[in-house]
Amino acid sequence: MTDRPRRPKQRGPHEPDPAGTTARRAALRLVDAVLRRGDPLDVAMHAAAQGLTGADRAFAVAIASETLRWMVDIDALIDSATAQILPDDVKSRTVLRIALAQLLVLKSPAHAVVATALPLVAGGPRRLVHAILSRAQQDEWRLPDRATLPLPTAERWAEQWSLAMVEAAEAGWSAPPPIDLSFAAEPGPDEWPDAISLAPRHRRLPRGQAVEAMPGYSEGGWWIQDLAASLPARLLGPGEGRAVFDLCAAPGGKTMQLAAAGWQVIAVDSSAKRLGRLSDNIARTGLAADVVQADIRSWAPTAPADAVLLDAPCSATGIFRRHPDVLHRIEPRQIAEMAVLQSELLARAAHWVKPGGVLIYATCSLERAEGEDQVATFLNHHASWCVDPVRADELPAGIAPDASGFVRTLPGLLADVGGLDGFFIARLRAP
Ligand SMILES: C[S@@+](CC[C@H](N)C(=O)[O-])C[C@H]1O[C@@H](n2cnc3c(N)ncnc32)[C@H](O)[C@@H]1O
Repeated sequence: MTDRPRRPKQRGPHEPDPAGTTARRAALRLVDAVLRRGDPLDVAMHAAAQGLTGADRAFAVAIASETLRWMVDIDALIDSATAQILPDDVKSRTVLRIALAQLLVLKSPAHAVVATALPLVAGGPRRLVHAILSRAQQDEWRLPDRATLPLPTAERWAEQWSLAMVEAAEAGWSAPPPIDLSFAAEPGPDEWPDAISLAPRHRRLPRGQAVEAMPGYSEGGWWIQDLAASLPARLLGPGEGRAVFDLCAAPGGKTMQLAAAGWQVIAVDSSAKRLGRLSDNIARTGLAADVVQADIRSWAPTAPADAVLLDAPCSATGIFRRHPDVLHRIEPRQIAEMAVLQSELLARAAHWVKPGGVLIYATCSLERAEGEDQVATFLNHHASWCVDPVRADELPAGIAPDASGFVRTLPGLLADVGGLDGFFIARLRAP
């Protein structure tokens, strides 16, 4: 620091923490779990949020999410204010990160931000933290218009796609995305007056609404599903009573679409917990599916189906807008591990399609290794299979298939109406 910082007011040893410290402490634990242990934010939340009220929990998640979204830019501000760079993993840096996210992104009152930050560095460099937060206010620190991607991600995506894609991704993840709803049946023209529709049985609403409070939630006519995530099931068309294996099905967004489109769905997933959510979703929407808990690497059906949808486990780098932790956790090693698993699942799934039937392979990843490269390897080993090219008229306006007939949604698509997640989808036809 260049200016000599004022000494923060000392608190007595038995003084209670200021109001609001609990949520900030939970946010600190969340960010720490993501950055140190590589835990997904929603998994970390279950441990960090024990005993919190609903409001504290929501605030802790909002702080952690915005900290991770803006972390590169927040770190640059912190580093501009210290004579020596604070090590990346010291607690005081994490406390500063979450405090600055509150101040600069969530616009929390400065006095509350400072008062609740200092107890988090008890026994540590309170003066330094206090001084940097004072400096942020005095110098009216601002964040840039676009949140900078972590460097390894930016380099990887620039190499795979382009610099323009990286810029579009930064624009896309600078704010949480809008809310997309999928409907079992087309809603009436007067329903959802604040929403736009980008596809049949789709409505898009501005972000920030409480889902359970939205009309019709308990009646189950709709569910939350990003527009990109709704594309794989759309590409199977109407089911007319035919059978489909929905592999890696939980929590069931695609299961519900398929059931609503008249498919007889066999939904398979290895996670009991996630299948519990799928069953709740099916019950809430009044749709029907047979649910199987099994690992696809060891399970096999008794007979093949007309169609198979494999929504394979993946790095999930395509859903970075709503899960900003992803880009801080995922490294090339995990992408390579996921690609090995996907190859295995895809090869097994291919055995379960009737002759002439269709296999949809999808991942919510922006990595070619989990999309284009995966399907190229599959076709190399399954010469009698072919690509069933997706036609432009099967997709919402503004989304076109690529030259190979695959769907690749990249950041920047539909950006003027809120964008969409990054997905890869291939439709393959059995011999
Ligand atoms: C991308 S998510 C599926 C999302 C889901 N299709 C939807 O639309 O709601 C991937 C799923 O794969 C499941 N999974 C991962 N490995 C699996 C395996 N070996 N066998 C079966 N399911 C698996 C996970 O439990 C997870 O629910």
